[in-house]
Amino acid sequence: MIDGLGLDIVELSTVLALFKDGTAPRFARFVLTDEELSTLNEFTQEHRRAEWLAGRFALKEAVSKALGTGLGRFLDFRDIHISTDDYGKPIVRVPRLPGRTFTVSLTHTNNVACAVCIMESSNRQSSAE
Ligand SMILES: CC(C)(COP(=O)(O)OP(=O)(O)OC[C@H]1O[C@@H](n2cnc3c(N)ncnc32)[C@H](O)[C@@H]1OP(=O)(O)O)[C@@H](O)C(=O)NCCC(=O)NCCS
Repeated sequence: MIDGLGLDIVELSTVLALFKDGTAPRFARFVLTDEELSTLNEFTQEHRRAEWLAGRFALKEAVSKALGTGLGRFLDFRDIHISTDDYGKPIVRVPRLPGRTFTVSLTHTNNVACAVCIMESSNRQSSAE
């Protein structure tokens, strides 16, 4: 059963600016899990790093909207874990909410990153419980 839908869009210029002014590492540590940070650090090209980070940021915000909680109170960015399958498809897990399933997609152009999340559960609760 579908329990929530979330959508988010991020301007790439905002994230690129963080790389230019040197604050990107702090921002990345705020947004990404340790495993995600390791993946980010495998990218050498700045534009790809910004695009990838913007996509993860957008996806986590989309997940928080599907949950209906936003970020910063019930859930933080680092509570949302994003990995990829062998084909590159993003997979989302929220370990604190094992009963929730998240179906997600993200995309980016030269200017924006955009993500969508459908949340499902096996029960009829509509909050983040
Ligand atoms: C909920 C949240 C993700 C919204 O994201 P945003 O980037 O502020 O704003 P967006 O333009 O993407 O989305 C705004 C819309 O989200 C929707 N929204 C707000 N709270 C929501 C919630 N709890 N659940 C679902 N949707 C929500 C609203 O429709 C809102 O538009 P409206 O106020 O005109 O009705 C945001 O409030 C949040 O928690 N962000 C994390 C903040 C943070 O830690 N930032 C630090 C970055 S360094």
